Amino acid sequence: MPDAKPLIQVKNLNLYFGNFHALKNVSVDFHAGELVGLVGDNGAGKTTLIRVLCGIHKPTDGEVYFDGKLVKEFHPKLAIDQGIETIQQSVGLCDNLSIARNFYLGREPVRKVLGIPLLDFAKMRGEATKVIRAFGLRDNVSADDEVERLSGGERQSVKIGRAVEFKNRVVIMDEPTNHLSVREREHVNELALQLRNQGLLVIYITHDIFQVHKLADRIVIMENGEKIEDASTDKMSAEALEEVIRQGGRVVEKMES
Ligand SMILES: Nc1ncnc2c1ncn2[C@@H]1O[C@H](COP(=O)(O)OP(=O)(O)OP(=O)(O)O)[C@@H](O)[C@H]1O
Ligand SMILES: [Mg+2]
Repeated sequence: MPDAKPLIQVKNLNLYFGNFHALKNVSVDFHAGELVGLVGDNGAGKTTLIRVLCGIHKPTDGEVYFDGKLVKEFHPKLAIDQGIETIQQSVGLCDNLSIARNFYLGREPVRKVLGIPLLDFAKMRGEATKVIRAFGLRDNVSADDEVERLSGGERQSVKIGRAVEFKNRVVIMDEPTNHLSVREREHVNELALQLRNQGLLVIYITHDIFQVHKLADRIVIMENGEKIEDASTDKMSAEALEEVIRQGGRVVEKMES
């Protein structure tokens, strides 16, 4: 059961890019231990909304709260401060570095030898190996291999493993299964559920309402910068939610015949 108090609270958020009104009075809550599907057509504002939560965009007006505390400054460190990891297809890993190095990117462990700080390669290799095995990488892949060698699904697994290892509270997955095979997609979805079951908040962005309905506790639909639906998956079927997307949130009056 999700906590009663929201981990993230968004209130009356508006964002303009110049004259373009990209987020229109969006209010939404997200709880720890919840998997929320964020769905909507191209350009609906899904990525823009999560970029605000990560501090990449500053809203024009409205408020964001983490644990009930108002965010006063939006800056790119907000995501790190709040323990948010974003997982996107094709970004977030350096192809020409080893899996172990990618795992620790930006927070490499250091050991001192005669007072001189050196990267602790043994620790990076050991920890990364443990995690890639737990997250289902092939047995013949080692932590010393370059990320280039990995399949799309395995890359996602490294990023997800990293999110778990560094005790993030929120994992945002923006179209995480694009270009993945059916098996890899299932694996990534399974990991999303694992994170949720460990008590993390998972925000799962996709166009595919049917795929995410199977995983999510709740679906939020956006359209043209507005939130047009916010319903738990046990109250609304995927078919009913697809109809909302099709209608763009417009209430269709029944024709009398
Ligand atoms: N930095 C920016 N400057 C100007 N306009 C932007 C910027 N970022 C996004 N937009 C516009 O805001 C709207 C919402 O974009 P956003 O990327 O949030 O959509 P989305 O729901 O993530 O779509 P998709 O499913 O295609 O990823 C789009 O019309 C887009 O062109
Ligand atoms: Mg997007």
